Parts: sequence; structure tokens; C-alpha cells
Amino acid sequence: MSGPAAGTAERPLRIAIVGSGPAGFYAAGQLLGAGDPVVAVDLFERLPTPWGLVRAGVAPDHPKIKSVSRVFEKTAKRPGFRFLGNVDVGRDVTHEQLLSSYHAVLYAIGTPGDRRLGIDGEDLPGSHSATDFVAWYNGHPDYTELQFDLSPERAVVVGIGNVALDVARMLALSHTELAATDVADHALEALRGSAVQEIVLLGRRGPAQAAFTNPELLELADLELADVIVDPRDLELDEHSAAALDTADGTTRRNLDALVAYAGRTPAGRPRRIVLRFLASPVAIEGNDRVQAVVIERNRLVRTADGGLRAEPTGVRERLETGLVMRSVGYTGGPLPGVPFDARRGTFLNDAGRVLDPERGSPLPGVYAAGWIKRGPSGVIGTNKKCAQETTDRLLEDFAAGRLPEPSSSPDELLQALAAAGHELVDYAGWEAIDAYERALGEAQGRPRVKLVSRAELLARARG
Ligand SMILES: Cc1cc2nc3c(=O)[nH]c(=O)nc-3n(C[C@H](O)[C@H](O)[C@H](O)COP(=O)(O)OP(=O)(O)OC[C@H]3O[C@@H](n4cnc5c(N)ncnc54)[C@H](O)[C@@H]3O)c2cc1C
Ligand SMILES: NC(=O)c1ccc[n+]([C@@H]2O[C@H](COP(=O)([O-])OP(=O)(O)OC[C@H]3O[C@@H](n4cnc5c(N)ncnc54)[C@H](OP(=O)(O)O)[C@@H]3O)[C@@H](O)[C@H]2O)c1
Repeated sequence: MSGPAAGTAERPLRIAIVGSGPAGFYAAGQLLGAGDPVVAVDLFERLPTPWGLVRAGVAPDHPKIKSVSRVFEKTAKRPGFRFLGNVDVGRDVTHEQLLSSYHAVLYAIGTPGDRRLGIDGEDLPGSHSATDFVAWYNGHPDYTELQFDLSPERAVVVGIGNVALDVARMLALSHTELAATDVADHALEALRGSAVQEIVLLGRRGPAQAAFTNPELLELADLELADVIVDPRDLELDEHSAAALDTADGTTRRNLDALVAYAGRTPAGRPRRIVLRFLASPVAIEGNDRVQAVVIERNRLVRTADGGLRAEPTGVRERLETGLVMRSVGYTGGPLPGVPFDARRGTFLNDAGRVLDPERGSPLPGVYAAGWIKRGPSGVIGTNKKCAQETTDRLLEDFAAGRLPEPSSSPDELLQALAAAGHELVDYAGWEAIDAYERALGEAQGRPRVKLVSRAELLARARG
């Protein structure tokens, strides 16, 4: 090969990152910061806007958490970085095209699907996945057309993770509390007319196995309009949970303390109630042409072969009337044409971030994964930093060992082909134009921003 070697200032190592959420941005920062080799990163994003779930997942009433985007903004300003928004990889460009244009492709596309309960009535009108509700209230352009009938007085949220608490809070916040946030305008309006007074959360296991974390549980107490209700009988630990408490982590202990405090409180008589229930699974959602009730079965905990605790039905059932069910039992990933997918785990097939050939079990040269699509849908924003580091370390290791294939064409040829096909890209300046516009609209209303929620509007603003 003639000319300068890859990885030098004259010919940087060219990396495509797909997905501009935390994992994609942390990976970009790590690669651009490598120094030797010199790296250029093109970051492809299917939306005209960056930040993944930091924009489309984190709850509107958690603005401080969203400020992590400042770290990503610094990465975007580094030499060698390009943001290529409004490009859906797998549709607008193929995996093969990326592989032939870059030394490596690193997927950080998240896991946007919802896990299913697998019970009767799950698809009745009035039964929604939290995934949809979250994307709707956060103004994700693919979800703005959804409709949520908020006329029932009782909502049932299935699951007791942090997303379930986000959903419960969003249903419980007052209009004044919400109006100070960047919640999408269509959701602000719909939630203003909500008749929901009681939000029942169902945990299939006990209070010592709750998936939510302590600050998120505690902040329920600060809601202007809602009391938090916990039945003290629900906190009586079974023998397994009690035995495990000695070695339990701080989160479990603090959660239990907070739950005991809630259970001991006299409700202040606020107009809304968040009711936390444990050892309760929905076994059917009933209704003729829309949700009318959830059938709930009481569980007990049994030990599994690996030492964990599993919920087992006891046969004791009750019927809870409701017109609104939010299923918040976790996210799941989907396949992308050409990239090996592990359907059981809902992630790309990988070993520590190296995507694997399913036939041979060995790494596919130049293909990597980070974030939720690598390890599954759990962990907070910061978890993705370490996760991305593991992947970028492998990538740089592979480069040093001569294991990255030399691309046969250039990124600019790829971008020219996209432009020739009439595809409209949003570059970082385009996003900055959107950002400035949204913030200016927000400032006039005393809000952090007013989100543009349609692709057409976002693209027009990026152009303008
Ligand atoms: C509702 C919710 C609330 C949360 N709140 C918090 C919180 O308050 N605090 C906290 O620390 N953590 C929170 N988390 C967790 C945190 O958001 C995740 O850990 C993190 O976002 C995962 O990062 P990621 O980059 O793997 O995926 P994502 O953030 O999902 O980013 C993936 C990106 O890839 C893009 N993409 C997908 N497919 C393609 C494609 N084919 N081509 C191009 N681009 C594509 C997506 O549009 C998206 O921008 C929350 C999670 C959820 C679901
Ligand atoms: N503020 C924040 O920091 C914040 C906010 C939102 C999200 N996040 C993070 O994002 C990640 C994803 O959150 P998540 O809430 O979607 O997932 P999660 O933490 O995995 O919680 C999923 C919940 O659904 C339950 N569940 C699963 N399958 C079920 C079934 N078939 N029937 C009944 N219940 C079922 C789980 O119970 P089991 O435990 O019994 O499986 C658990 O309570 C988490 O790591 C979370 O901490 C963080």
C-alpha cells in the first residue's frame, strides 16, 4: 500500500458510529481522544437530533440529568468529528456500505422495542407500552401521532423499575409542575385534561427486589398533587428476602426504609394517589373493545437454581377496574440487516463489544457494539461510558494488531451517493440551529426548551 499509514494526521483511522445516544457519544469521545492513532468519527443518527434517550427517554422533570449533553457537545466540537443526522442505517445506508467506507463500524443504536407480557388483552385499546408513552411525552417525532385516552380515573402501571416510576410521575404531576419542563406540547395539553386520580404500580416480586433506585422512590414524596400509598402488609418480607437482607446492597436497604416510611404515613388527602403494590402480576387484561379491568394474581417468591428469587403464582386472584394500562417491563433491541443478532437477549451478538460471526463464533472484523444494543436495556447514562470504553479499547487493540480491514471506498463517496439520492442530512450546525430555536421558544415561556416534534419542522429548522 502506498501513501501515509492509516491512523496518522494525514490519513486518520475512519470510524463510523451509529447512534448518537450516550454510548455513541462516549465512544466518539474516547476514540477522538486516543491521539495515537489519529481518529476521525462520523456519527450517524436516524433522527435529526442527537442524544438518544437523553432527549427522548429521560423524564421532562429531570432537567439536571439531561445536562450530561454538555459533555457530548464538547465531543462534537473536537476536530475529526462529524454528526450525520437524519440517516437511518439499515434503510438509508446499509451495513455493507458503511463497512466498505470505514475502517470500523461501531453500533450504539439502543434497544427501542418493548418487552411483552404475553397475557390476554395486552393489545386492547387502553393498554400501552411505557416505551410508546415515554417517546410520546418526550416529543420523539415517530410517536407524536399516538393517542392516550386519559379519561379513566385509575391507571395501572405494570413493573416497578425506574421507567415505571417515570410513567407514574408523569401521570401524577400537576399542570404547573409539567408546564415548567420540556415535555412535548401535545403531551402537556393531553395531560392537562387527564382524569387519572389513582396510579397503581404492580411489582411481580417483593419490595426487596424492586428495580427502582432510591432517589427516584424518594422523590415521589415531593409531588404537589399525589400521596404515595404502601400497604404495610406488603412489606412483610418472606423468609428468602429476609435472609438475603444481611448481604443486600445499599439500594435495597434504602428502598425498604423509604417504603416503610411511606407505609407509616397518613395520606395528606391530595387529589392523586400513587399506590405501590408487590407480589402482584397481571394475568389478563379484560374488556370488550377497550381495557376495563386487570386480573391480578398474588405471587410468592421461590428460589431458583442459580440462587435468585422468582415470582410464582399462588392462585389467589383479584380484579382491578381500570381503563388505562401502561406496561413498563423493560425495553428490547431489534435486528439491523447484515449485523448478527442474538434474538434471545435482544442484543447484537458480541463478546465484550466485538460483534461475532454466528457461524464461527469469532469476531467479525471491523464491527463493534456499545451501550444497550451490546449489553441489554439496563444501566444509567454513566454505565454506557465504561461499556463504550471496553468496546473502544477492543477496537483500538484490533487496529494495533492489524485486524481492521482497509476500506475500499471513502466516506465522502458514501455521503455524495446519499446526496445524489436526494437524501437530506442534518449536520451538527443544523442541530445547533434546532437547539437554539427550541431554547429561544422555551425561554419565552420559562421552560428549558419547547421541542419541535415533527421531522418536517426539525428539518426545516436545521436548513434555516
Ligand atoms: C424512559 C427512560 C428514562 C431514563 N432515564 C434515565 C435517567 O433519568 N438517568 C439515567 O442515568 N439513565 C436514564 N435512562 C437510561 C439511559 O437513558 C440509557 O442507559 C442510555 O440512554 C442508553 O444509551 P444508548 O446509547 O445505548 O442508547 P440510546 O440512548 O437509546 O441511543 C441510541 C441512539 O441510536 C439511534 N438509532 C437507533 N437506530 C438507528 C439506526 N438504525 N441508524 C441510526 N441511528 C439509530 C437512536 O435514534 C438513538 O439516538 C433512562 C432510560 C429510559 C428508557
Ligand atoms: N432516573 C433514572 O436513573 C432512570 C430512569 C429511567 C430508567 N433508568 C434505567 O433504565 C434501565 C431500564 O429501566 P426499566 O424500568 O425499563 O427496566 P428494569 O429496571 O429492568 O425494570 C423492569 C421492571 O419490570 C418488571 N418485569 C419484567 N417482566 C415482567 C413481567 N413479565 N411481569 C411483571 N413485571 C415484569 C421487572 O421485575 P423483575 O425485577 O421481577 O424482573 C422490573 O420491576 C434501568 O437500568 C433503569 O435504572 C434510570
